[in-house]
Amino acid sequence: MASSYSLRFSCLWIAVVENVLTWPQKFVRDLVLRRGFSGRVLDAGCGIGDNALYIAKACPGAEVVAVDVVARCLEFASAKAGLRGMRGRVALEVGDLLQQDPERMPDTLGPRANGSYSVVLDSYTFDSLGDPERERYVPTLSRLLRPGGLIYMSCMSEEETRPGGARRVPIGDILLIFNKSTGWDVEGIEGSTMELHPTFWGGKAKARLFTIRKL
Ligand SMILES: C[S@@+](CC[C@H](N)C(=O)[O-])C[C@H]1O[C@@H](n2cnc3c(N)ncnc32)[C@H](O)[C@@H]1O
Repeated sequence: MASSYSLRFSCLWIAVVENVLTWPQKFVRDLVLRRGFSGRVLDAGCGIGDNALYIAKACPGAEVVAVDVVARCLEFASAKAGLRGMRGRVALEVGDLLQQDPERMPDTLGPRANGSYSVVLDSYTFDSLGDPERERYVPTLSRLLRPGGLIYMSCMSEEETRPGGARRVPIGDILLIFNKSTGWDVEGIEGSTMELHPTFWGGKAKARLFTIRKL
């Protein structure tokens, strides 16, 4: 069993090596202050778990499920949960949100989970997907969300003009996919800041937070 120190070091190391953060994104901290998370919450593409763990800690009314397709991410999320005394507080699942057959998903994402989520958090997952992947991802979110449920989706914006980084997501791309004729209502579009590892772009990139309701 690795010591607490070596686990802590490993988390720090993967954060540096993989250019990811070890704290929740600012827009997530802000949404917590706005009481944005209650009921069953899905962190879609949770990475190494900081957003999910923060929501679970700060929002007692939220039951958080965090899913990522990369098993190694969940291993780190699990180690962090242990270090923070939060083991078992977030359901950590390896799962592919592009999977179109719910029977092949873990229970928390399978057919019995249809319509069971009140909120989906998408913290820079949608903007990492190509167009064909988005066409499979959005129906999965729709299947899992209850009618009236919300997606909080933060994406890097086209106003971020420095070369590199994730795919930029103009407002028009979101409105084309999420609109009343496709069963969604985009209720909010706000400027936001993506927090990065401090060695990359000084730790900040221009982003937008979309609040999207399932009709
Ligand atoms: C840019 S990272 C964002 C991680 C985290 N949400 C955050 O804010 O730090 C995008 C994440 O989406 C995950 N992802 C990509 N495709 C996925 C899929 N099909 N199913 C589940 N997770 C996926 C990646 O493995 C990665 O951890």
